[in-house]
Amino acid sequence: MKLGSTLMPLGVVALLMVACGGGDAQKAAPAEPAKPAETTQAAKPATTGEITYPPDFITADKITPPLTDAIDQTMVDNAMKIFNAKCKACHGLTEEKVVGPGWKGVIKERKPEWIMNMMLHTQWMLENDPEAQKLVEETGAQMTDQELTEKQAREMLELIRSL
Ligand code: HEC
Repeated sequence: MKLGSTLMPLGVVALLMVACGGGDAQKAAPAEPAKPAETTQAAKPATTGEITYPPDFITADKITPPLTDAIDQTMVDNAMKIFNAKCKACHGLTEEKVVGPGWKGVIKERKPEWIMNMMLHTQWMLENDPEAQKLVEETGAQMTDQELTEKQAREMLELIRSL
């Protein structure tokens, strides 16, 4: 049978048509217009000073529930239980240093999202954040990750805010 050899050229023609079609589609794509400088600036990831935090870190708009002027006493009560169980060995509720810094006044020096990231991503902060590294120098100690949930870290923030 010689059927194969007569069908072959048809296949080649079909392939050529597909190839040409692709070429046309590419040519039709419009060129991207140049963006003004401000638009590119706004697209930059969130940074504090010179460092860029990973995308899962807390930013001001991610603090839940959001901060208000009032102190939520239920959150503070929950935080006190965590404090007694996990933090008291190294932290105090006054300005005085224990192993780590005393918590009173910390809210005036630092952003609330920084405080939460210090609790939730301790290891990363000690390795990458210059402010956290300054604290290591000052205290001569390193905080270990306390494995708090985001809710617990938010409660601890409320306690620190209340001091
Ligand atoms: C083993 C001791 C230790 C324990 C336990 C500990 N920390 Fe710390 N913490 C430190 C040290 C030391 C620092 C200062 C940073 C450093 O040197 O690692 C620090 C820093 C902090 C800071 C930043 C303070 C500032 O002045 O900016 C916060 C907030 C904090 N700890 C929260 C907690 C919470 C919440 C707990 C309990 C769930 C806890 N820590 C448990 C040792 C500890």
